[in-house]
Amino acid sequence: MISRRGVLGAGAALAAAQAQTGGKTIAVASSNGLRACARAVEIMKQGGDTLDAVVAGVNIQEDDPEDDSVGYGGLPNEEGVVELDASLMHGPTRRAGSVASLRGIRYPSKIAKLVMEQTDHVMLVGEGALRFAKAYGFREENLLTEKSRLAWMVWKRSLRDASGHNNWTDGVDAPPAEKAVAELKRAFPDVSEELLAYAWDRAMYPPTGTINCLGLNAKGEISGVTTTSGLAWKIPGRVGDSPIIGAGVFVDPDVGAAGSTGRGEENIRIAGAHTVVENMRHGMSPQEACLDAMKRISKNYGNDRKRMEKFDINFYALRKDGAYAGASLWSGTRRPGQTPPRRKFTVNDGGQSRYEDCAFLYER
Ligand code: GLY
Repeated sequence: MISRRGVLGAGAALAAAQAQTGGKTIAVASSNGLRACARAVEIMKQGGDTLDAVVAGVNIQEDDPEDDSVGYGGLPNEEGVVELDASLMHGPTRRAGSVASLRGIRYPSKIAKLVMEQTDHVMLVGEGALRFAKAYGFREENLLTEKSRLAWMVWKRSLRDASGHNNWTDGVDAPPAEKAVAELKRAFPDVSEELLAYAWDRAMYPPTGTINCLGLNAKGEISGVTTTSGLAWKIPGRVGDSPIIGAGVFVDPDVGAAGSTGRGEENIRIAGAHTVVENMRHGMSPQEACLDAMKRISKNYGNDRKRMEKFDINFYALRKDGAYAGASLWSGTRRPGQTPPRRKFTVNDGGQSRYEDCAFLYER
């Protein structure tokens, strides 16, 4: 039986936590997280658990064939197979779960949650993760959409050996090189130029999109999740940062949560999400914490901007008092000849989800 003193104690603890967050419910996510943040806040406001909320949020992107960096419709590995990674942490219980190189299941975040809840492991990979998902009734399906398959085919056609040859194009007797989209139109006459331009862009600039979503409720409870199809055209079996606890996501309920999107290899080398949370523990603001992590990445390249031009990376932080930030290595995205749009992240603190500008280390 709970004593009157115990009830008062719990009430006092809740009041203290609400004072810390200002009673606010907040979700913070990567730039593809407008809907995820809205869903997460809706669930948390209805009293749902913070991890249930952020997972339900990112499930929207996992389901969306138009997001080619996450779940169904994600861009595949070099063999044309979609391989998914995800990890999550539940602040209230301080537990974690993760899956990597999971094929054929569109909700890696749900499987990571099952690993956390139903096993005494933290991480399952590849065939074992697939069998585990199927054991829990998940349906195996082909995650490659026609759009992603086209982008993969175009990527294969873009590969050349030293003499400029490619087995996937129509050979040495083909007419002289034409402009990329015009040449592709000849190979794929039924595909629109708009879709071919998309496929060419993806072939040339393999994305490391990903979604990270962090959620804090009015009681001060906090959780986070990251889910991705990883680097497009990767070697089969390549695992990025997203399923690595401490890189793709990290939550310490005494401090806050952090996550990352972008080129995972850079993040793994600095254990980014953990670094951001530790920085906040030692008194940095969320923005300072993210930018300090970014400086560590830059240091790994001797602060040589030229060498870092080829990749993007972003951190997101949500402190347990509700302060938050997003930060990027570069002010804008990498597209030659175009003015890069300013890097954004998404926030919802009760109304409509909105974009906010990422802080950045370098102007581009
Ligand atoms: N951040 C996603 C990846 O590199 O796989």
